[in-house]
Amino acid sequence: MSELHTATPGRAWWRDAVVYQVYVRSFADANGDGRGDLQGIIDHMPYLQQLGVDAIWLCPCFPSPQMDHGYDVADYFDIEPTYGNLDTFDRMVAAASGHGIKVMLDVVPNHCSSQHAWFQAALAAPKGSPERDRFYFRDGKGEHGELPPNNWTAIFGGPAWTRVTEPDGTLGQWYLHVFTPWQPDFNWENEDVADHFDRMLAFWFDRGVEGFRVDAVGVVGKTEGLPDQVIDPNAGTATEQAGKNEHIQFKPRAHDYWRRWRRVIDAYQAEHPGRDLVTVSEAYTPGRPDLLLKFVEPDQFHQSFNFDLMLAPWIAGPIRHSVAEVYDVLTGAGASVTWTLNNHDTQRAVTRYGRANATEMVSWTKNNLVYVDAPVDEALGLRRAEAMVAFAAGLPGSLYLYQGEELGLPEVLDVPADRREDPLFARTGGKEIGRDGCRIPLPWTDDAATAFGFSPADHAEPWLPLPAEWGRYAASVQAGDDDSTLGLYRHLLEHRRALDVDAPLAWVLADSDELVAYRRGKVTVVLNVTDHAMTLPADLVGNGTVIVTSVRGHDDPTTVPSDSCIWLLDR
Ligand code: GLC
Repeated sequence: MSELHTATPGRAWWRDAVVYQVYVRSFADANGDGRGDLQGIIDHMPYLQQLGVDAIWLCPCFPSPQMDHGYDVADYFDIEPTYGNLDTFDRMVAAASGHGIKVMLDVVPNHCSSQHAWFQAALAAPKGSPERDRFYFRDGKGEHGELPPNNWTAIFGGPAWTRVTEPDGTLGQWYLHVFTPWQPDFNWENEDVADHFDRMLAFWFDRGVEGFRVDAVGVVGKTEGLPDQVIDPNAGTATEQAGKNEHIQFKPRAHDYWRRWRRVIDAYQAEHPGRDLVTVSEAYTPGRPDLLLKFVEPDQFHQSFNFDLMLAPWIAGPIRHSVAEVYDVLTGAGASVTWTLNNHDTQRAVTRYGRANATEMVSWTKNNLVYVDAPVDEALGLRRAEAMVAFAAGLPGSLYLYQGEELGLPEVLDVPADRREDPLFARTGGKEIGRDGCRIPLPWTDDAATAFGFSPADHAEPWLPLPAEWGRYAASVQAGDDDSTLGLYRHLLEHRRALDVDAPLAWVLADSDELVAYRRGKVTVVLNVTDHAMTLPADLVGNGTVIVTSVRGHDDPTTVPSDSCIWLLDR
């Protein structure tokens, strides 16, 4: 395969990286408390190396009351005690480095935990104090301030304001939280806040962290004066309504904060030759590559997640469009592109693609959080998910994988209500099913006595229950089987490494309603989204041979089986 490899010397590693997202709480539990931990990650480093990933991104692993499972940070300079401590963290970074893997962390700039020392200090301090100015404290409306300062709703349900009890025991001001009451929003106009994050970045870079995923950048910064939202009567769910609140979404001012970060990062890098730091921002911008582009201007984030492909239905046109639109806009501006099909906020691809409405336009963007009744054919969903990752893995740019997708895990839809942990479920009274189903602990072995290898023999109940039949997905069961989903991922990442990174994306069969196909250098990638085999035109096949196929054993370059993807290499 080396004949294909023509990587540009000096090219930043992250531009074509495969980054594996570790949801720490559900990855591997080494100490038996039913929650994943850093030692669990150390123990499974060889697995990650064999999979072929360049980096891991750890979901927030800082001290946290876990009201939003780490996205409520109580201290940005330490490790969540149930996950380990700074020494364990340093050992983990060393273990990763020993396996050729870089470590990225997850920084949450929009809000902290209501248990953060600064928020506790703000509660104890009077109205108008510098402590309160780090957040959004405001007087309520109404004669006695009994009404919230404005009509904003929270993204996870309920109002976006909570009234506090002042130190003298009287009801007092309100504070803003666009997610949950346990996540007060920072006021980024306050210099303490900006300075805090400058220090945080350097603190973790000093410990060997090579980059950050930056959480929820779209809601950082608010319209001055915090005016009422004009309510759209058709707004739908809480998530959708808050998503339409122009006063909390995509405020231009926030880009100044990101420019400041980039200056800090570039200065750090200049002082530390050999480091190649990266940031990837998280904002949902479906169908708005112009918005996405704003985050990856050269003086801001190095990358931004692009979720359009993940949210597209199983239809050729929208799949092609979702790739082409983002690719054209970002690469046209010289920015790096990312691809992802799963994450800890979205129903797993196996379930999305297996749902009866996956081939309908209506499933577009609607399939991640809201409970949908359409029946799911998991075998079909897995077949399509495997096809889609084969399709995505050939695209130029970097690929972000989410733990468990390499095992073909489906979404667990029937987590009992009393075991659900996602605040989204509770705050919306169960109207939005929430994200627990994609956060179930990983099955490592088929031994039910150890929660399928997630925990050691003597262990507490895992924080979310693993379905009884999950032994069949176990990593140990799949590891020796090249035809398993894990085998496919390993094979795919190996071939991806051999692609010519400088080869641009060139569409072929661009008008097809059945096939989505592109060429990169000597490789042609063809995805068939129909339920029947498709014959390829002879000029497309040329003298190509099949080097990747999501349908095991398929080696005929002239056909693509139903719901599958092949890679053809020119000979
Ligand atoms: C991001 C995270 C999500 C979290 C939210 C609030 O969207 O991915 O898990 O709940 O931000 O921090």
